[in-house]
Amino acid sequence: MVNLSAVAAVAALSTLAIAHPEPHRTHTQVKREIEYRNAIASQQTRSLEKCAGSEKMKRTQERAIERRAATLQRLRKERGITNSIKHRRNLDDFVAWGNVNHNETGIVAADADLFGANTSCILTPETTIGPYFVSGEYIRADVTEEQPGVPLHLEMQFIDTTTCEPLPEAFVDIWGCNATGVYSGIGVSIDGSVQGGFNSTFLRGVQSTNVDGIVDFDTIFPGHYLGRTTHEHVVVHVGSKALANSTSTGGTVAHIGQLYFDETLRSAVEATAPYNTNTIAVTSNNEDRFSGGQATNEYDPFVEYIYLDSSDITAGILAWGSIGVDSAADRTVNVTRAAYLDAEGGHATGEKYVSGL
Ligand SMILES: *[C@@H]1O[C@H](CO)[C@@H](O)[C@H](O)[C@H]1NC(C)=O
Ligand SMILES: *[C@@H]1O[C@H](CO)[C@@H](O)[C@H](O)[C@H]1NC(C)=O
Ligand SMILES: *[C@@H]1O[C@H](CO)[C@@H](O)[C@H](O)[C@H]1NC(C)=O
Ligand SMILES: *[C@@H]1O[C@H](CO)[C@@H](O)[C@H](O)[C@H]1NC(C)=O
Ligand SMILES: *[C@@H]1O[C@H](CO)[C@@H](O)[C@H](O)[C@H]1NC(C)=O
Ligand SMILES: *[C@@H]1O[C@H](CO)[C@@H](O)[C@H](O)[C@H]1NC(C)=O
Repeated sequence: MVNLSAVAAVAALSTLAIAHPEPHRTHTQVKREIEYRNAIASQQTRSLEKCAGSEKMKRTQERAIERRAATLQRLRKERGITNSIKHRRNLDDFVAWGNVNHNETGIVAADADLFGANTSCILTPETTIGPYFVSGEYIRADVTEEQPGVPLHLEMQFIDTTTCEPLPEAFVDIWGCNATGVYSGIGVSIDGSVQGGFNSTFLRGVQSTNVDGIVDFDTIFPGHYLGRTTHEHVVVHVGSKALANSTSTGGTVAHIGQLYFDETLRSAVEATAPYNTNTIAVTSNNEDRFSGGQATNEYDPFVEYIYLDSSDITAGILAWGSIGVDSAADRTVNVTRAAYLDAEGGHATGEKYVSGL
């Protein structure tokens, strides 16, 4: 959630949000990208700070808390999980941002503490779209398509920093790699490894935000591929419209971001099958941070999460977070599409992704 008292505290977080630090990128490129991103992040932080304490924001947060609590109950019920959700845990865990933990599994508390904790705030600022965006994907909540892995129910709330209100009717694209680090929608990755193919659409989809600026997706926890820490891509379109064939069109891109996961969480997931069959070298959050050198940070790129079954990570994870979006910004120029989807399937665009700024 956008808890604005927490936004300033995020300054202590190190950069884990390095955008696509592929091996061929120069140190200067990485550094410029980080500087650019941090500049945007501090603008977004300031924009959100001005929303602090507003009645509108408070009510929005209250509704979001209720919704998350209801989602958790629903997801558990659907899976027949009946054991206790909450275990007592030391809230001191949350004190230090330098040792931040977004795991809400252990909290014994009212829903407001569980789902409105200080540890959530704005997520990643503008970043690179990366080389694997595919446009024209289907509007659907469940993008899993039988991909094996830890179920991830991802709830994102978008707050319009120009009005301090939720951003409704925005079309949100997500994409992530599968448990063994493969993307759908493309033929080969930039390092030449074979991907899912142009006609595949797994783990990609679009949802439109509701009146509270919220979208929900059912996907799987992403795996990892060479040179990147575990991440999920997010693009927000404003002014788009839904088409009869369950795709969307038009509008402008107001936000390009990526979500990240606590190191302990990604390690715990990676230890389970089939993630543990992935032989590609892991890039940890820390290694990404190391690549980032001395970058400053004013944002929290990590999602909050809770295990659906506190004793079994493979039963699934509910993750959530809020993202401040400047709805007036037009970042369409920063969109590179690897491919587009139409009725015949996927097609390469030939658009060249230029990594670095
Ligand atoms: C948020 O952090 C402040 C300052 O550390 C603390 O006083 C407050 O109780 C926290 N609120 C929640 C919901 O954890
Ligand atoms: C990931 O996708 C690729 C391409 O479709 C597939 O070969 C691989 O089995 C998938 N990974 C898992 C764990 O299913
Ligand atoms: C999250 O918290 C629960 C309960 O304290 C614990 O069992 C689990 O191992 C934690 N997971 C991670 C990834 O830290
Ligand atoms: C977006 O595009 C503008 C104009 O080409 C460029 O200056 C900027 O660095 C790009 N930002 C990102 C995050 O790629
Ligand atoms: C959906 O319809 C639009 C408009 O006719 C078309 O451009 C697009 O290619 C279609 N997409 C799919 C996946 O059928
Ligand atoms: C995608 O499927 C269509 C038929 O639906 C086929 O004509 C096309 O060759 C396929 N493309 C690829 C890259 O396999």
